[in-house]
This record gives sequence, structure tokens and C-alpha cells, in this order.
Amino acid sequence: MLFARRRHFFKRIGLPCLIIGLLLFVSFFVILPLIFRCSVTLQRGILFLTFITYPKGLDLTNPASIGLYATRNFYITVKDHDEDETGVRIGVWHVLPKNAVRRFKRELHVEQAYDEDEASRTANDLTPVSSSIGDNNEELQQLAPSLRAEFPVIVPENEQLFYERLLRVPGGTVVLYLHGNTATRGSGHRSEVYKLLRQLNYHVFSFDYRGYADSDAVAPTEEGVVRDAMMVFEYIANVTSNPIFIWGHSLGTGVAAHMVAKLSSMKERGPRGVILESPFTNIRDEIRLHPFSRPFRHLPWYDFTISRPMYDNRLRFESDKHVREFPQPIMIVHAEDDVVVPFHLGYKLYRAALDKRSRSWGPVEFHRFDRAHGYGHKYLCRAPEMPTLVQNFVENYRNAIY
Ligand SMILES: *[C@@H]1O[C@H](CO)[C@@H](O)[C@H](O)[C@H]1NC(C)=O
Repeated sequence: MLFARRRHFFKRIGLPCLIIGLLLFVSFFVILPLIFRCSVTLQRGILFLTFITYPKGLDLTNPASIGLYATRNFYITVKDHDEDETGVRIGVWHVLPKNAVRRFKRELHVEQAYDEDEASRTANDLTPVSSSIGDNNEELQQLAPSLRAEFPVIVPENEQLFYERLLRVPGGTVVLYLHGNTATRGSGHRSEVYKLLRQLNYHVFSFDYRGYADSDAVAPTEEGVVRDAMMVFEYIANVTSNPIFIWGHSLGTGVAAHMVAKLSSMKERGPRGVILESPFTNIRDEIRLHPFSRPFRHLPWYDFTISRPMYDNRLRFESDKHVREFPQPIMIVHAEDDVVVPFHLGYKLYRAALDKRSRSWGPVEFHRFDRAHGYGHKYLCRAPEMPTLVQNFVENYRNAIY
């Protein structure tokens, strides 16, 4: 009886189909995770996604092509250790603050771009709250005549000197932006953040970690990208004693927390505050909740094949641990409708910071953005309240030392 029913079943489905189905199941849910477990290249690939590049055909040596006029493109060489002779070359942008561009638009040859930008901002009512605290208009005013005399026109030969001179003008503020995975420092949602920060009269630095964009094609690791960030920070700190803030987005929040913890443990000069946009607690939590891992996360061997190997290969980005290792103030911003890094991971990080940090350390702020606005993972910078939030944070802590 049973035998007959089984025969009937095989006749309908067909034995070959059943075997193919089983093979597909095994390859997808067993072999693929096992390959993942054994291949650190695959683990890094999935984490850093350096092969996803957009927009296509972007010339990173020409930031003006995406509306970032008065922006210097340059390269820094990162040595991984003392005997590292060649080093890793990484691409960096330095975006000048609006108040400096306004004064030197003629010398910088950006009059037309600047005026058009201003006109469209006025037409769209995009002028952010202006401030008198924390910007250095007076100092710029005083130095302008001598700077104009020394730099009648900015050409490639004196560009570095001029940008560094502006960076040193007392009273200025600098933001170092650490981008998330995929693409480059020129991606649209990133340049929107730089434009917002420039409007607030901050200098902005952004760069591509190793393996991304025009930076050297060295396979990224957590240690490596943190090192790249530390070197750009060191470059800025070498040039100016003005306050520096770190802004990390997505995977960049993991780089930010790790880097600031490291500076703190080395007793080196650190930033004055850390802004974490769409952050997560650690890679283990993040990978489990990422849409890519959805088909696998309920498998009994998920931990063995996916979580554990990444942890063992030092792809951790344990921000929940690192936020207990540096005393600077933290501002977390997260949208409820973030599908890449779920909102509750940002909130969990906030709770971890509140619970574990010393009371004498800088405060931790958390700002939630309603899903109704649709900012998602990438567009919190479009929130009308964002300029004020950032400005308040910077002004509260730019002169505070923790
Ligand atoms: C910063 O300055 C130190 C001392 O002059 C120098 O050794 C180091 O290479 C500089 N770092 C960067 C990233 O420019």
C-alpha cells in the first residue's frame, strides 16, 4: 500500500526533478555556506562590496563634475608597518567651507558655480540656519588680504598650500567623513552630506578606503580601513589644531568607533565628537539582519558557516564594544525605515553606550526619524532638522575636552 503510494508520488513529481531539487537545496543551503566559511575573500567581498561601483564613469579627480566646486582631490600614502616601503595610496577630497569659498571664489575660479548654487538654494529655500558661534568669519576676514596677495590665483602648483592655509585659519571646524560599503567618495548620497556640512561652514574630508575607487586595489580588512581613516585624521591633525569631528555612515560607523577607540588607547589627539549615521552594534548582528542573509539565518549551521568565520577572521566592527573605549560625545541618527541597517540596531548601540560609558564622559544623543519621511538608509541628510542637529552638536562640543 505504502509502496504503491510512493510509486504514485514519484510518477507525478518525477524522480529526476526530486534529485535536482535536492541538489539545488544542498548547493544553496549547505555548500554555499561552507564555501563562505572557508573563503575569507568571499567574506571580505560581502562585507566591503568594493565591486559594486556607481555612478559609472565618475571622474574622481574632478569633484566639480558632481557639484563639489572648490574641492581638492589628492592622495595620501598609508604605511601598514615600518618596513612597508610602497604603502597603500588612497584618494582623498577636501571640500572647502562655504564662508571660505565665498571670499575666495575669484581666486578659486568658481564664481559661476558658487553663484548658481546660491541662487538655486535661495529659490528652493535651502538656506540652513546661519550661525555666528563656531564659524570663523572674522578670522577669515582678517587674513583675506594677505592670502589674496599670496595666492592671486589658485593653480595646481599652489593648491595644496592654499587649502592647508585655509584649514589652519583659527576658529574653523573640520569633519572627517567615513563612508559605508560599496561605491566611492563621489556617490550621490555622500556628496549630499558634504554639501550640507559645507553650508555649515565646516571643512569636509572624505576618502576611499583601500580597495575602493581610485585608491590602491589592496583587499580591505577591518585593520586596513581603520588604518586608512587614522592616516587621513593624522594628515588633518598635522595641518591644523582646529576641532575635528568624525561622521561615520553605515559600515563607516564601525570604522569610526574602532578608530576613535584606538586613538584613545594610544593617548593620541582624537576628535571632539563622533556622529554615527545608521550605525549597527557589530558585524555579527548586522549580517544576521541584512537582506542578503535572510535565506540562511534560520539554518542550524548559520553560526558555524557565516557568523563565526567572519568573527575569527577579524571582520568584527564591534561598535558596541568600542563606544565604551573612548570618552568623546556621540550623536546617533537613524531612520525607522532603514532596511539595510535595521533601526533597532542603532537604538541597541545607543543603549549599550548609555549603559556602559562612564558618567563623566561626553553625552550620547539619539535621534529617531519617522518612517513616514522615507529617509531610509541613505538620505537622513535631507531631514530639514539635520543642519540644526549637527550644528548644535558641533557647537556644544567643539571646545569641550573629554
Ligand atoms: C604627520 O606629521 C608627522 C611628523 O612630522 C609625520 O611623520 C607624518 O608622516 C605626518 N602624517 C601624515 C599622514 O601626513
